[in-house]
Amino acid sequence: MNTLILSTSEEDIRRGAELIRAGGVVGMPTETVYGLAANALDENAVRRIFEAKGRPADNPLIVHIASFEDIERFALVREIPPQARLLAESFWPGPLTVIMPKSDTVPEVTTGGLDTVAVRFPSDINAQRLIKAAGVPLAAPSANISGSPSPTTAQHVFSDMQGKIPAIIDGGDCKVGLESTVVSIKDGVVTVLRPGGVTVEDLKRVCERVEVCDAVLNKLKDGEVALSPGMKYKHYSPKARVYLVKGGDEAFREFANKQASEETVVLCYKEDETFIDLPKIILGRKADLEAQAHNLFSDLRLIDELDGVKTAYVRFPCCEGIGMAVLNRLIRAAGFEVIDLEKQ
Ligand code: TXA
Ligand code: MG
Repeated sequence: MNTLILSTSEEDIRRGAELIRAGGVVGMPTETVYGLAANALDENAVRRIFEAKGRPADNPLIVHIASFEDIERFALVREIPPQARLLAESFWPGPLTVIMPKSDTVPEVTTGGLDTVAVRFPSDINAQRLIKAAGVPLAAPSANISGSPSPTTAQHVFSDMQGKIPAIIDGGDCKVGLESTVVSIKDGVVTVLRPGGVTVEDLKRVCERVEVCDAVLNKLKDGEVALSPGMKYKHYSPKARVYLVKGGDEAFREFANKQASEETVVLCYKEDETFIDLPKIILGRKADLEAQAHNLFSDLRLIDELDGVKTAYVRFPCCEGIGMAVLNRLIRAAGFEVIDLEKQ
């Protein structure tokens, strides 16, 4: 299969929508990361997403809509919990995914066999145009091969999905750079299952009771059931071995300079740049958490583009605001391997 790169012209959005209506899978830009979009209500189309990604069948997909009313128009859920309405009013369209009780209209393949469905109304204008033109809700996971870093440019999607999907819509660089915040609602409590573009602080401004699931920053214990199936799989990993390194500026720079240079790259802050003699990838300025989020996945992809690099040492990020999402992705990319310089 030849993979076309389409533009965001009227004609190309229409071509993308036609491919989707015919049961195909199309690379879709969103404000978070690129998605692999297909008709969420068409079992065979959704199966094609799982095949293209190599994704385990029990890991459910997010259903993307282009207005709050689409939830009822497509009869996606059995009921809309009151907190879901509140969250939608506050954060939609935007990088927030809300889990709700699924209706029979949504096929089980889409939800990985669960009786809940994850719904998101993206703010990216081209995502909205594609959903509207397709006239169906779009199931879309991140458009990477399962386990590798999520794509934030059409080029990233092309390198993972070339020959596997008919088209990618090139909407440019994704604004946020990491995936949406995923929340569930139970007995009035909003629980963050995956931190993302909408921060815990944002949620707390609107909802009285907000909790963060333990598995966001900690490894699942043996036998523990994941609230969100995505938590149990290896994620976001470059081929090189990644270690998160916790410590102050001085300690980190000293540690970095002690590593063998040919096989090692350091992911550090702009402020570290002149103090480290090894190949470096800049995460962003230390205080600019948005920039770190925005650059994260392209930085992780860059590691593997450097010849012969086997090990990457990454600065342990600040956990405030969107920093929690950065840490959640990095700690998984590192397989929970943290080097704590303060404890050495
Ligand atoms: O920003 C995003 O959310 C991107 C763009 C394309 O919208 N999509 C995305 O999808 O990140 P994906 O499939 O890579 O991640 C979805 C996460 C997975 O961890 C999955 O397990 C979880 O959401 N999820 C989906 N439906 C769920 C459900 N019904 N219950 C619990 N977790 C669910
Ligand atoms: Mg993903």
